[in-house]
Amino acid sequence: MNMLMVRTQFNVMPATPADVARMREIQLKHFIKLDSPENLNPRMKNGFFVTEVKDDKFIARITDTKQGLVLVARNNGQISGYALAYDLDCIRREEPFLFDTLEINEAYRKMMSGKKILYIDQIAKDPQAGGGVGSALLDGLEGIAGWHGYSVAAGLVMERRLLNMASARLMCKFDYERIGAQTLEPDAWGVFAKRLEKA
Ligand SMILES: CC(C)(COP(=O)(O)OP(=O)(O)OC[C@H]1O[C@@H](n2cnc3c(N)ncnc32)[C@H](O)[C@@H]1OP(=O)(O)O)[C@@H](O)C(=O)NCCC(=O)NCCS
Repeated sequence: MNMLMVRTQFNVMPATPADVARMREIQLKHFIKLDSPENLNPRMKNGFFVTEVKDDKFIARITDTKQGLVLVARNNGQISGYALAYDLDCIRREEPFLFDTLEINEAYRKMMSGKKILYIDQIAKDPQAGGGVGSALLDGLEGIAGWHGYSVAAGLVMERRLLNMASARLMCKFDYERIGAQTLEPDAWGVFAKRLEKA
């Protein structure tokens, strides 16, 4: 894995278990409880996570190199952000309810059949880090995913009860298309995907 390093103003590289504490620290800056009314004011939030990823999942994804694509973006040695991604098959196996509630349009479903799909679970930056971290991480993920033989990258963007504008813009910038939705009332997400190679 180490031969793949993406250079921007951030150095994007595979995460190690030693990075998990800092990754969790960044994640928790964006964690939001939707059951509190003040958290539902869309103007208050630029980005957010509703499902907390715990240390053991980060570590499992990092150490299982067959499944895991976990990256950190470093600037002057400090971790500015991270990306947590892995094979969509992990969701199919480990969280079948979530997998079964993904409504994906027929054409895309057909195209994805039998292909390796990268599921982008989380991309997050330290709010102090300035711009470009998300782009550097997504660029890095796509490069490494292609190298691992993934045909498609896909992720969810929360659209209801809050709209995750930063995430939507990041997907749009990288030419992801909205291929479906997931509705878990009262919340809903758009499913965004991009082909990483000609099928
Ligand atoms: C999503 C996130 C990783 C983007 O990181 P970033 O470093 O700000 O992204 P970039 O600077 O590379 O910007 C990518 C695009 O998103 C846009 N963008 C970034 N933050 C935005 C915001 N708060 N509102 C609207 N657009 C935003 C940028 O303008 C840029 O688009 P452009 O080039 O068309 O102008 C960051 O906002 C974040 O950590 N959010 C919290 C966690 C989260 O919700 N992650 C997404 C779910 S996986």
